[in-house]
Amino acid sequence: MGFEPIPGPPGIPFVGNVTDINPENPIQSLCNLTDIYGPIWQFHLGGNQRIVIASQELMNEVSNEERFSKIVSAALKEVRNGAHDGLFTAYGPEENNWGIAHRVLLPVFGPLAIRNMFDEMHDIASQLVMKWARHGPDHLIQVTDDFTRLTLDTIALCAMDYRFNSYYRDDLHPFIKAMGDFLKVSGDRARRGAIAQMFYREESRKYWKDIELLQQTSREVINARKGNPTYKKDILNAMLNGVDRKTGAKMTDENIMDNMITFLIAGHETTSGLLSFAFYFLLKNPSAYLKAQQEVDEVIGNAPITVEHLSKLPYLNAVLRETLRLQPTAPSIGLQAKEDTVIGGKYQVTKGTPIIALFSKVHRDPAVYGEDNEEFRPERMFDAEFERRNQEYPNSWKPFGNGMRACIGRPFAWQEALLVTAMLLQNFNFSMDDPSYQLQIKQTLTIKPKNFYMHAHLRNHMT
Ligand code: HEM
Repeated sequence: MGFEPIPGPPGIPFVGNVTDINPENPIQSLCNLTDIYGPIWQFHLGGNQRIVIASQELMNEVSNEERFSKIVSAALKEVRNGAHDGLFTAYGPEENNWGIAHRVLLPVFGPLAIRNMFDEMHDIASQLVMKWARHGPDHLIQVTDDFTRLTLDTIALCAMDYRFNSYYRDDLHPFIKAMGDFLKVSGDRARRGAIAQMFYREESRKYWKDIELLQQTSREVINARKGNPTYKKDILNAMLNGVDRKTGAKMTDENIMDNMITFLIAGHETTSGLLSFAFYFLLKNPSAYLKAQQEVDEVIGNAPITVEHLSKLPYLNAVLRETLRLQPTAPSIGLQAKEDTVIGGKYQVTKGTPIIALFSKVHRDPAVYGEDNEEFRPERMFDAEFERRNQEYPNSWKPFGNGMRACIGRPFAWQEALLVTAMLLQNFNFSMDDPSYQLQIKQTLTIKPKNFYMHAHLRNHMT
């Protein structure tokens, strides 16, 4: 078999390609370099090789869990400082806690259990509607900020019956502030490396204090529940009482704490980014906006939204799928080969080398999505076409990750995003603050629109 070297930018001795990657928006840099080097290329940071893959064909190959597994490296490895072997940052089945938590929690995040969380989701979504109604059409809506309040309050209420009450305070709840700072610094630390890190002593001190606060608060929530048990079927009770059928083990308090922090981390920015991009795309595409709102008017009208309505909104469903195709809010995942191997028929990959699966490009593969792959066209995401394409081009739409390490919160996020989008379109007409706004991206662990503002004009009715 003839091997070929993996192409890539040349780089500088010792530091590698650090100057090729914009620290403010690394994903955009990876996309730009993909345009130059093609669907598989490599770069080096320090002495370490990283491989980027960016086509459906390669995505399909690395989705084979017999050959490849998730890697916890870069920013995720830093997030592990705070979330330890919680589901998201665990190395995998080799850590017992991952298996126990995965098996205990899978049914709790299943579609039926999520239906039971509808009322709590509705409660927080109504708070957002009330806020925008109260502020009136002149109010400049900071779209991602308000959606982040919504998603954090929702996951905290559904997971552990805890109210951050983000819409009733101007400042951020100390837990939310600590979590935001912790995530930001985790990203910064990953870019720096150990030696440079030594020059950031004050930042490090605060970083570990923030982690302490996250754990302390989680411990308090657990102890409060233990002191006042309820029969509520929420995620915290499932973690406290659930028994793993395979091992007979229960989750430890430490692991429950780590997973509570995990759900808050993994469960808010991604969904808030999805909602923000969805409104951006709707406002930029008036015909899609009209169809979405017409669907809401026909299916729900002036009635209060119920959980049954949500399965009758195919256009909104397609809008959310198409939004995550073009702007996957978790824009990449890290994988590794389990053994030395060859990918794409000719590129050698060493066991353990980080492989970055770049969804932002995989999702625009012209071989799958055609000439108009850059366009926002929800119609391509209706069930029939969506399923046919997934058959013909497996793993061409991966915003929720892969295999057993895929997102456990997918049904939760989907129900929440559908409900909120429907409720907002039902109650308001929206306009962009600056109609000439061109999408800019802010990247932390996830991506979201930057400086995106809109106005909400109350429609005739309120529900
Ligand atoms: C894992 C995306 C919402 C909890 C993942 C992964 C992706 C993802 C791509 C795989 C990460 C990797 O391989 O490193 C998303 C998107 C969401 C979303 C796009 C919203 C639109 C949520 C929500 C929750 C959640 C609402 C919790 C309530 C998790 C957890 C994992 C995970 C715990 C780790 C699962 C494991 O490895 O066992 N998510 N997520 N996510 N997500 Fe989500």
